Amino acid sequence: MNLADFRTYAHHLVDWMANYLENIEHYPVKPSVQPGEVISQIPQHPPIQGEDFWQIMADFQQIILPAMTHWQHPGFMAYFPANSSPPSVLAEMLTATLAAQCMIWQTSPAAAELEERMLQWLAQLCGLPTSWHGVIQDTASTATLCAILTAREHYNINQPGIINQKGYSQQPVFRVYCSTETHSSIEKAVRIAGIGSENLIKISTNENFALKTDELVNKINQDRQLGYVPLCVVATLGTTSSTAIDPIEKIGIICQENRIWLHIDAAYAGTALMLPEYRHLAAGLHLADSYVFNPHKWMLTNFDCTAYYVKDKAALLRTFEITPEYLKTPLDRVVNNYRDWGIPLGRRFRALKLWFVLRSYGAEGIQAMLRHHISLAKQFEQWLLADGRFEIMAPVHFNLVCFRLKPTPHESIEAINQRNSQLLAAINQTGRYFLTHTKLNGCYTIRAVFGQTYVQERHVVALWELIQALL
Ligand SMILES: Cc1ncc(COP(=O)(O)O)c(C=O)c1O
Repeated sequence: MNLADFRTYAHHLVDWMANYLENIEHYPVKPSVQPGEVISQIPQHPPIQGEDFWQIMADFQQIILPAMTHWQHPGFMAYFPANSSPPSVLAEMLTATLAAQCMIWQTSPAAAELEERMLQWLAQLCGLPTSWHGVIQDTASTATLCAILTAREHYNINQPGIINQKGYSQQPVFRVYCSTETHSSIEKAVRIAGIGSENLIKISTNENFALKTDELVNKINQDRQLGYVPLCVVATLGTTSSTAIDPIEKIGIICQENRIWLHIDAAYAGTALMLPEYRHLAAGLHLADSYVFNPHKWMLTNFDCTAYYVKDKAALLRTFEITPEYLKTPLDRVVNNYRDWGIPLGRRFRALKLWFVLRSYGAEGIQAMLRHHISLAKQFEQWLLADGRFEIMAPVHFNLVCFRLKPTPHESIEAINQRNSQLLAAINQTGRYFLTHTKLNGCYTIRAVFGQTYVQERHVVALWELIQALL
């Protein structure tokens, strides 16, 4: 493809992109394809000769597009959103065009310095301690793994980095604590860090699905008596099932008293701290050792983009820094080489889309989006409550509503779970909405998240009308 052709195709693609976003409501949110349907249409062997762009594009439209789940569809109310925005997409185009690999300052000074500034901006906007040091990771799962590895290497202040050096041979058995509602990425990190799932102690939650601190204290004390080393507590601000909020300040004090690393997972709800009315949730954050939230979930920034903060930058660097001769530069002690702040060596230029998004919307634009989404959730909750046939299964803290049809007298748990799962399937079958479920206290619960960039009140009204028509 020469650059003249590239120009033609790129203009075509930009029109395609704008048309797609303009007409996205006409696609079914979730495709109705069968497993194997796509792969059977892709030739078994790669082409020997290059193919024409228009042919590739035609196949994209015919084979790929009909089998996509449309995350930017306003009826996408599943999981958590990965909401995007036009400025973010434009920045991604530039990132792809520059195609820089931003592993160290020298390989793209602008990328390194913009990343530093963007993480400072995000900290200011969210009221995070400005003394923290931020870095962009691909996902919250990676950030949490970084937190647990750093905790592991610093549990013994006299021998930092000992497990990195010697492996686990003579180390004590660590314990990590979180609530039963914590995201599965915490268990994955504990496994990868060599601590073992059995040493992840899940603390039960109260009626609001928040971690019980008295049980946490008891478990820590018990573990110490049994010879374990309490290493880390992971507290969640906005759990995946129901956006429950663990008592951060209380947990922070417990961690301080016991010299335990505190990691806070605010992957989804962290963006809400940009609202002054939610800022009280930041109380106690200064007690954390590490913190993660995802602009790629609810801050108009294309996946992937995770903001990870640490209190002790030196501890992070000592855990990950490894400098072969071919990567040494004379500036290594002066600049941020972000390859040393996490797991991968190679890094995309992710800060650019943050810059475009933050400058295009400003704090006020993002706050307006958050408030709009939260008000849609509150409205939907009110309709459910007023109807009488539904119950709300968890407090609506942000823009997620967890609900189900109420059981009739003497209805078994299996029967009511099935009725709710049938309702969810019927909603999704229309192709106009995609919602998912969870279980809360063993009860099948439908989750509706109002966090998509393009969701408007009329979509929520139509969802409510649909649900009523289905009953
Ligand atoms: C609370 C919480 N933590 C972590 C994650 C994992 O996020 P990521 O996909 O960025 O690893 C999620 C994903 O939804 C989440 O809800």
